Amino acid sequence: MQRIVVLTGAGISQESGLQTFRGEDGLWNHERISDICTPEGFARDPLRVDRFYNGLRAGLANVRPNAAHRALAHLEDCAATGTWDGEVVIVTQNIDDLHERAGSCNVVHMHGELMRVRCTSCGATPAWHADCLPRTPCPHCHRPTLRPDVVWFGEIPYHMDRIEAALQACDLFVAIGTSGVVYPAAGFVQQARTHADTMEFNMEPSAGTDLFDQTMLGPATKTVPRWVRDVTGS
Ligand code: APR
Repeated sequence: MQRIVVLTGAGISQESGLQTFRGEDGLWNHERISDICTPEGFARDPLRVDRFYNGLRAGLANVRPNAAHRALAHLEDCAATGTWDGEVVIVTQNIDDLHERAGSCNVVHMHGELMRVRCTSCGATPAWHADCLPRTPCPHCHRPTLRPDVVWFGEIPYHMDRIEAALQACDLFVAIGTSGVVYPAAGFVQQARTHADTMEFNMEPSAGTDLFDQTMLGPATKTVPRWVRDVTGS
């Protein structure tokens, strides 16, 4: 049985039409991280932060999963049907839902989910809807304390215990479309390489490229389906 942990970043969704964060046309060339992606930025100007995420939500409504998302869903499917003797968990830094829309179920959203909001009073994470504004009452506790269900800089990513356990147990760690500069995800390869093989798929070598056994450069829609075919034979 082969156990694979796949870490995905913004690069896997780029060919679906979503902007990455860094690089030439990256989101962080147009917005300051401290204004948008910090609890302090949200406290200063919640409507501005809301506008930013509403823009991303509108963009997400117009895109579809691509061949790389679909290949990872196929890998999980092969495990479920027994045509490949393995298991795969996707740990994603992405807040989009393209893995799920492609058919993946075993997906861990370590940076949260764009299509949910979180109540800072009761912890509920209801689905976002168009009437959600920063002062909208929480549907569970009715306090006006909803925020995007997104992990911001300075906050602890979600599901770290589950991720650590999966990294400990894996035989292969694969990183797809991530620049490798944001921790803790950037450190996963260090943890995995003590006992597992490591591969990265990216357009260019990432910041941690030397830590991987193999680097496959090129668009994820080409490289990832090829690799999944090699793994599953289908
Ligand atoms: N195929 C493969 N890789 C690609 C593609 C593609 N089509 N397009 C871009 N890439 C690569 C880029 O070369 C880059 O190395 O994807 C990477 C994207 O890097 P970032 O924009 O930094 O995205 P990511 O690593 O996911 O960012 C991490 O930073 O701002 C925070 O919370 C945000 O989750 C995000 C985190």
